[in-house]
Amino acid sequence: MNAPATFALHTYGCQMNIRDSDLIARRLRAAGFADAPTEDEADVVIVNSCSVREKAEEKALGKLGLLCASRRGRPGRVIGLTGCMANRLGPEVFTLLPALSFSVGPRAGASIPDLVRRALGGAERLFVPDPPSAGPQEPAPSGSGPAERGPVQSFVTILYGCNRHCSYCIVPHVRGREESRNPHEIVAEVRAEAARGARDVCLLGQSVMRYGLLGFSWPDDLPSPAGFTEPLPRLLERIALDVPEVPRLRFTSGHPAGVTPELVRAMREIPAVCAHLHLPMQSGSDRILREMRRGYDSEGYLRAVRMLHEAVPDIAVTTDIIVGYPGETEEDFEATRRVMEEADFDNAFVFKYSPRPGTPSSLLPDDVSDEEKRRRDQVLLADQDARGQRCNNRWVGRTVEVLAEGPSLRNERRWSGRTSQNKIVVFEPKPGLRAGDLVPVRIDSARPQTLYGELCG
Ligand code: 5AD
Ligand code: SF4
Repeated sequence: MNAPATFALHTYGCQMNIRDSDLIARRLRAAGFADAPTEDEADVVIVNSCSVREKAEEKALGKLGLLCASRRGRPGRVIGLTGCMANRLGPEVFTLLPALSFSVGPRAGASIPDLVRRALGGAERLFVPDPPSAGPQEPAPSGSGPAERGPVQSFVTILYGCNRHCSYCIVPHVRGREESRNPHEIVAEVRAEAARGARDVCLLGQSVMRYGLLGFSWPDDLPSPAGFTEPLPRLLERIALDVPEVPRLRFTSGHPAGVTPELVRAMREIPAVCAHLHLPMQSGSDRILREMRRGYDSEGYLRAVRMLHEAVPDIAVTTDIIVGYPGETEEDFEATRRVMEEADFDNAFVFKYSPRPGTPSSLLPDDVSDEEKRRRDQVLLADQDARGQRCNNRWVGRTVEVLAEGPSLRNERRWSGRTSQNKIVVFEPKPGLRAGDLVPVRIDSARPQTLYGELCG
């Protein structure tokens, strides 16, 4: 019997891509392929790509260029592309990369095992565009045995695509229209993740609070005991009731328009729902927010943040910011600094503006220099470092519940885990500690991104 063909995946981009790669790997294993010990040795390499900024695309293209060149000495090798770039480039990708074996969009992932088989059989330049709808998703193969036990943290996509059309964003072009998954299907997937060991499940959508708001009716056979009427609170409640093995539930990414009284009540009343929300602000300048078509001004944004803090004690709010949007002045930038300070963000991810083909803002001159973008980025990161330190100092001396994840990346002898606020905690393990255990840790020191403490009891 021939040894099975081996595969490796290389992933760029967001959590949704990480999730998609995991599902692709499971589908390939279920179809009889094996994980390659290293990418170099793999018979099949699939690059799961991101289009959100030009740099992300450049990285994936560079990687694919090298991989395609490796086929010269190994003509039987298969190199595939999936993710957002596959959709953005369409069949044109084969002009850029003539030696690419296949390209397939992110909603057509179920076809990958078949494409791999055909490509291994000699087929070249296979292209599968995304279907207009992802349709019902068959449950992902879960595998069995300890080797298949997944990590403590897991992601489940609940909403595909995005209809928001922010001026700078390529997502609606590459991920298509908004489409909510059926709650029965989601609950079944969360249950399967729990069976693989997941204890912290994050529900994913590009604009996750739009879950169930379009072309959707909540199934009659899933009542809400707490009387929720909005789809996302109902879904959170349903998962908490039906999958009690998962003590922690999150959802990302948010938008202030979705911070409704009912959602805030769900965050407060459902114990499994974590005290953390990632709420991209993008800018603190009302003029830039208008240009970006974000649908709120700085005051509206801050109102949402206040609602969260008032309702959910100790909640951590994190954000995304773009610096150097076309026409962003020093004054706009200073407004962003001020509003970030007022929002008291626990963490912030800062991105330098990058014009994306086909987006409305790509028609505007990209007139903030690279150097100035870099400077603004550095300033915001320094501000955030000080703010993160201040936020984290509030935890020193307190005992928090930590979900243990495993040995810390930096120091094998110590373990790391996460709090409900999504803060990383590093501590000395005690014998018998297992990944997935919820343990009390007393915090004794803090850095801007990390807490350090000791196990209690
Ligand atoms: N340029 C820079 N950053 C961008 N983002 C989205 N589009 C762009 C762009 N064209 C950022 C936003 C978003 C995060 C995932 O990426 O801040 O929240
Ligand atoms: Fe990148 Fe956006 Fe696609 Fe995620 S959805 S991979 S962030 S372009």
